[in-house]
Amino acid sequence: MAMGYSEKVMDHFQNPRNMGEIENASGVGTVGNAKCGDIMRIYMDIDENQIIRDCKFKTFGCGAAVATSSMATELVIGKSVTEALQVTNKAVMEALDGLPPVKVHCSLLAEESIHAALWDYAQKNNIRIEGLEPPKQDIHEDEAEEEY
Ligand code: FES
Repeated sequence: MAMGYSEKVMDHFQNPRNMGEIENASGVGTVGNAKCGDIMRIYMDIDENQIIRDCKFKTFGCGAAVATSSMATELVIGKSVTEALQVTNKAVMEALDGLPPVKVHCSLLAEESIHAALWDYAQKNNIRIEGLEPPKQDIHEDEAEEEY
């Protein structure tokens, strides 16, 4: 099974970067994956110049979700909130040298939770982030149950 994973994926899975939470975060986003029921939460610390100072994640998710989130946090730290929108699941997968096709949906958790955290930050500060749409996927308990 592990053969389908790149060395980078294995590295980020075994030594996840930025796992944990940020107290009094500027933005927090939680999303669920309808396919597997896994959950991802992203915390962001954003400074007054809209630069992401820190980003951490927590997950009830599979190895690919851990690896993509770990990489995603590394990619967004130091970026502005608009630049962070370019950290798509594709960009994260590329940075990880790819994912097996059956695991692509896992990388969406990372992208969607980043967007949800940015949205939360924008709402709290009453600002608009160009190109950011409201999170499509929020945690709806009943929807998640229907999928099983
Ligand atoms: Fe659920 Fe990967 S199987 S996120």
